[in-house]
Amino acid sequence: MADAATIANTMTVAVGPVILMGPPGAGKGTQAKRIMARYGVPQISTGDILREHVRKVTELGCKARSYMDRGQLVPDDLVCDMVAERLSRPDCKRGFVLDGFPRTVAQAEWLDQYLEGKLFENNGLKRIPLVVIKINVSYNSLLRRLAGRRSCPTCGRIYNVYFQPPRVADLCDVDGSLLTTRRDDCEEVVSERLKEYEQETLPVVEYYRAKGQLHEIDGERPMEAVTAEALGIIENGNRL
Ligand code: AP5
Repeated sequence: MADAATIANTMTVAVGPVILMGPPGAGKGTQAKRIMARYGVPQISTGDILREHVRKVTELGCKARSYMDRGQLVPDDLVCDMVAERLSRPDCKRGFVLDGFPRTVAQAEWLDQYLEGKLFENNGLKRIPLVVIKINVSYNSLLRRLAGRRSCPTCGRIYNVYFQPPRVADLCDVDGSLLTTRRDDCEEVVSERLKEYEQETLPVVEYYRAKGQLHEIDGERPMEAVTAEALGIIENGNRL
């Protein structure tokens, strides 16, 4: 159940646009869910949305699947159209947390254009600057995190057999579903995902650094410590 501080924040804080960046396994999804719980703004995970399209065998899912299975990025035009549709929904009016987007400089430029002049609501309309948070984690930790990751196909909760195991092995604490391993968490696909990150997404980090919008945090610490620092950055960013 939400505590009083959470409810107060959910009611009054306009969060604006937040981007979580970092390599595969850095903890973007984990932290996005915590930020969402804190402020009541949606997590927009392009990976989750694409996986849902693949599962439902939609036209987009059929186009995206071969890229995802190889650990490569899905083409920009497909992803940007998908994000535009999601951001146009009413639940994004107070803000949103982007997890896994943008991942190329072209996507970042598209997002800047999309956000130009956008206002966010909290008892009035406010221009809130974009906050970009990059979670830094060492290569060896990433490999261990991805190898140990399990997720609930029903509620989306993320576990880790090494760092955050479920109470009963292989079963979700929340709804008892059998936990699953992501198809792209096998060794060869992980190495391709890391390569794509270095080639395509590190330039996006530099794009935001040059604009003075980048905050970096140490993601090697316990999840709670990472969350506390991210929330501090978001709340300070909103006061700018
Ligand atoms: P996507 O789903 O976005 O995958 P990713 O970026 O590779 O990131 P992950 O979801 O693997 O990791 P995460 O950082 O969210 O870590 P998590 O919180 O789960 O993308 C998948 C594919 O979709 C791409 O390869 C591409 O094909 C396509 N795609 C998606 N977006 C796209 C885009 N914009 N453009 C083009 N293509 C796109 O944590 C990992 C594990 O670590 C968990 O088990 C967790 O419990 C554990 N953990 C987390 N934090 C900690 C901590 N502090 N200490 C210990 N363990 C921790």
